[in-house]
Amino acid sequence: MKIAIVGCGFVADFYLSTLSFHPQLELIGVTDKRPERIKQFAEHHALPTYASLEELLADPQVDIVLNLTNPRSHFEVSKAALEAGKHVYSEKPLAMSIDQAKELVSLAAEKGLHISSAPCSALSETAQTVWKALRENVVGKVYLVYAEMDDGLVHKMPYQHWISDSGMPWPYQDEFEVGCTLEHAGYYVNWLTMFFGPARSVTAFSSCLVKDKVQDVVLAPDDTPDFSVACIQFQSGVVARLTCSIVATHDHQLRIFGEDGVLSIHDCWKYDDPVYVQRMLRIRRKVLMNPFRQKLPLVRKTPNFKTRGAQKMDFCRGVAEMADAITEGRPSRMAADVSLHNNELAIAIQNSLATGGPYTLTTTFEPPQPMVWAQ
Ligand SMILES: NC(=O)c1ccc[n+]([C@@H]2O[C@H](COP(=O)([O-])OP(=O)(O)OC[C@H]3O[C@@H](n4cnc5c(N)ncnc54)[C@H](O)[C@@H]3O)[C@@H](O)[C@H]2O)c1
Repeated sequence: MKIAIVGCGFVADFYLSTLSFHPQLELIGVTDKRPERIKQFAEHHALPTYASLEELLADPQVDIVLNLTNPRSHFEVSKAALEAGKHVYSEKPLAMSIDQAKELVSLAAEKGLHISSAPCSALSETAQTVWKALRENVVGKVYLVYAEMDDGLVHKMPYQHWISDSGMPWPYQDEFEVGCTLEHAGYYVNWLTMFFGPARSVTAFSSCLVKDKVQDVVLAPDDTPDFSVACIQFQSGVVARLTCSIVATHDHQLRIFGEDGVLSIHDCWKYDDPVYVQRMLRIRRKVLMNPFRQKLPLVRKTPNFKTRGAQKMDFCRGVAEMADAITEGRPSRMAADVSLHNNELAIAIQNSLATGGPYTLTTTFEPPQPMVWAQ
């Protein structure tokens, strides 16, 4: 399946670093609205280029457009790609507003095209192992989940020195303006909806705690939360509390509390993160948690990641899943309705700064299948 990249920025290098894991994907060209970035990225990776988005979309060979532009460009680029008859795999969020996300999904359906949005971390070995353990009732009936996406005081870190392989700087202005919730909630939301099905409602609180994060750019800091906490009520009855911040110290753990024990992991950004189970023990008249955790074997070994930095993620896995679904004529495990629902949850949490109160989800999805190697 032939793919083309729009957006030769920081994250594009991450996609290139795992492209070789998926021989069914052939990258036939890249473009960006900044010509110097096309040149720098294409020369670094020895890739063919398109001079513009229009030129890329006019190429009948392109099957899937990989939209790696900044969040606020996602809607216009994905819409143009769908209108040109291309399948779209977009970085997160699918769109910045739920109306725009719905418009994209309707347009794709009208045209018989696929559209999906990152992250694809629910397809990781760790997530698939957790899901299998849940299906096999390893901790009994699940009532409650705690998920954390705290990244520490990012504005105090030397982010000016965070440079990708091809030399692209980390886009701090965009990251601070879009905010950690819209950027990161999806990393656990996509696991939770896969495990527990569609959400019914979400009650969230978000706030901007550090208002003068960055001195050298004009921001609207009060509009962008740097902390959010959300309680998601799933239709299945499970409740999950999800926290996102760039204030509290780094913590990406997930804990799933069941009647017979706790399933946990340390970090959803690592596809090979170990999965632990801690079981309840009954000793005479007492019930207590076994102090020893058991490590569950991952459903399969992960590929050999060469990425630098805080994560070990196969960014191209979601694109490969889309390509396989198209080839096999089946729904993708990251189908449009799944991406739309996840996007609606992330936007509702982000917007709780303005709206407060409970939000009732307006979208739902057909449950996806586990990966073949995790069934
Ligand atoms: N930065 C990270 O660590 C990271 C990690 C995972 C995911 N992401 C996601 O990846 C996406 C891109 O982030 P990034 O860090 O690469 O940003 P970036 O600013 O480094 O790169 C984005 C590129 O898209 C280009 N672009 C923007 N609008 C365009 C348009 N209309 N047409 C053509 N090109 C356009 C920009 O010129 C820029 O080169 C975002 O959605 C972000 O949420 C980022």
